[in-house]
Amino acid sequence: MIERPIHLEFAHRVVFTRGAFSPGNSSLDDVLARAGDAIPRRVLVFVDGGVVGGNQNLLRDITRWFSAKDGELELIGSPVVLPGGEPCKNDWSLVPEIWSEINRSKIDRHSFVLAVGGGAFLDLVGFAASTAHRGVRLVRMPTTSLSQGDGGVGVKNGVNFFGKKNWVGSFAVPFAVVNDLTFLDSLPDKARRAGIIEAIKVALIRDRSFFEEMERRAEQLRELERDALEMVIRKSAGLHVDHIATSGDPYELGSARPLDFGHWTAHKLEQISGFSIGHGEAVAVGMAVDLVYSKRIGLISAEDCQRILRLIESVGFSVFHESLVLREDGELHVLKGLEEFREHLGGQLTITLVPEIGRKLEVNEMDKNEICAAIEELQMDSFAKTK
Ligand SMILES: NC(=O)c1ccc[n+]([C@@H]2O[C@H](COP(=O)([O-])OP(=O)(O)OC[C@H]3O[C@@H](n4cnc5c(N)ncnc54)[C@H](O)[C@@H]3O)[C@@H](O)[C@H]2O)c1
Ligand SMILES: [Zn+2]
Repeated sequence: MIERPIHLEFAHRVVFTRGAFSPGNSSLDDVLARAGDAIPRRVLVFVDGGVVGGNQNLLRDITRWFSAKDGELELIGSPVVLPGGEPCKNDWSLVPEIWSEINRSKIDRHSFVLAVGGGAFLDLVGFAASTAHRGVRLVRMPTTSLSQGDGGVGVKNGVNFFGKKNWVGSFAVPFAVVNDLTFLDSLPDKARRAGIIEAIKVALIRDRSFFEEMERRAEQLRELERDALEMVIRKSAGLHVDHIATSGDPYELGSARPLDFGHWTAHKLEQISGFSIGHGEAVAVGMAVDLVYSKRIGLISAEDCQRILRLIESVGFSVFHESLVLREDGELHVLKGLEEFREHLGGQLTITLVPEIGRKLEVNEMDKNEICAAIEELQMDSFAKTK
């Protein structure tokens, strides 16, 4: 047997800016220059149709911005607008459509694909880019608070197939991520708030002082004040990238997925509610279930549990949703989320819990009776609050 380790090193670059396509903004060209090869650097741009809807001048601004970089950057053709949101991950025909554009534009492994859009759109374009020529350079420009602070700064791409989420996909470190915070301005409040819950999640597993900072600024976050929201997105993106770069498992070969704290319930709730509950709201409820469960089994103190639930609520999320108590086959439907989570990760069930603020713990089983009792507790509290 011949066995050799293969080491590859990637730089994971995340840049923050405002108005990436405003005249004079050089965030994008500065980061592309890190490639170091000959100019002009060729860039094919894909834009999420939903983002264009909220930013009427975007396509004009992109074209003008590239014209001003003449000689250094070359925009290939016009920006290609495709539908975004979850439906784009369910429409396989968009994958060959993106490949066709890449082929027609003669994008090679030294050119760039720039994707501007929400997390779903980045997953789609990222997947197509990572499979064209076995992977062309991708620059992501995430446009939602969730994607700027969480998914968009990660290394995963994928589309839904066989009716299953992210069934086809790839791991690929993007060439760079450019987080343009002005895109948050065109989002509805619910979508702007959603990024805050992933920030609380990552603070709980990694960074107590960030958690405390969010406590201090909870009122501003509730009001979605720009400075507070931007601080949270920047810090959340940084912690997600730190986790990916330092946890030792960037391509998720193991069974643990700490960035998915609270997500086994969340994914199931989204599905049970027919996606009427958004990802952010579902994660808030999912974390609450795991926290109250942890308190009940003596893993976290009642004080810490209460303190975390208070922050989640004070930034504008509920910790209970009626879909939690829907039943199927004689038990709470949401409990099926545990096995589905295990299947999705493969291997042994591994759930991340939080024994104290800023620290995580992996467990390989959860007591279903205690989960039900935790859900009942959350239901009673919610009932008491509405009285
Ligand atoms: N790759 C990963 O690691 C990873 C991690 C977490 C989530 N995800 C994926 O991300 C997706 C969810 O992404 P999301 O929460 O960013 O939402 P989304 O991409 O589904 O976008 C929601 C809607 O907002 C629109 N939109 C996006 N930006 C806008 C803006 N600035 N102004 C106005 N409208 C805008 C989109 O067109 C879409 O209609 C899911 O498919 C999920 O699986 C991926
Ligand atoms: Zn999430």
